[in-house]
Amino acid sequence: MKVELKGVTYKVQSFSLGPLDLSIEKGTITAIIGKNGSGKSTTLKIIHGDIRPNKGTVKIDDSAVSSMSSAQLADRTSFVWQEIHSPMSFSVRDVMNVSGYLRGSEEGRMSEALESVGLLSFIDRDFSVLSGGERRLVTVAAAIYQDSEIMIMDEPTNFLDIDNQILVYNLLRELRKRGKTIILTLHDLDAVNNLADSVLILRDGKKVAWGDTRSTLTVENLNKAFNVSFHTYDTVNGSSFVGSYRG
Ligand SMILES: Nc1ncnc2c1ncn2[C@@H]1O[C@H](COP(=O)(O)OP(=O)(O)O)[C@@H](O)[C@H]1O
Ligand SMILES: [Mg+2]
Repeated sequence: MKVELKGVTYKVQSFSLGPLDLSIEKGTITAIIGKNGSGKSTTLKIIHGDIRPNKGTVKIDDSAVSSMSSAQLADRTSFVWQEIHSPMSFSVRDVMNVSGYLRGSEEGRMSEALESVGLLSFIDRDFSVLSGGERRLVTVAAAIYQDSEIMIMDEPTNFLDIDNQILVYNLLRELRKRGKTIILTLHDLDAVNNLADSVLILRDGKKVAWGDTRSTLTVENLNKAFNVSFHTYDTVNGSSFVGSYRG
């Protein structure tokens, strides 16, 4: 499935986003980066149809998101939220079932999804007592269980230790291999560099740059987007970005 934004703008109080024009190909990973408050979450919510743009259109495979029912949207897109509100007395299984309700409960696939984040033994635990990192992993598993073609994830590696960050990055690579289209926000620039096919850089709701990672994730563009000065150095995994405060 292809995701397309045309002339998308959105205004709320003192913040305005766009105009954004993006064409995201099936089976790719797109990362949105930028400072806090630059409009990353707002962009993801617009793509997911949670907020309507003032102008412009969002299309999934030539169908306008604004004309889809919530069931049609849930069939095509899953969302891992930046803030996790823990519903009172929901078990991990309940959280999984909420995500999977469209396709009906499938015990095998649910177990597989939880196993992929190492939390199958948590299935009957109370979601609200889990640690921030564990909740994050459960919501990633819930998105996998939902099995939509488009997966939107707002800072999926928040609260995760380094082992689990790498686990999630590897899962994302695996999902891309299975043809999923992943649109996410990440703060770790090296992870973006290693993982993403395309990058959107935002500052104050405006596009700084958009395109394939190699030509977009550059020191020049990062310097425009953040208040620090960047330089790169070579590592065994390719180039790495370091920011230092402008004196
Ligand atoms: N409903 C709202 N009312 C007022 N301001 C909002 C609302 N939603 C978002 N904003 C503002 O829009 C800006 C962008 O928010 P957001 O997209 O969450 O940024 P990011 O995810 O990049 O940190 C922020 O300044 C935020 O305070
Ligand atoms: Mg955000």
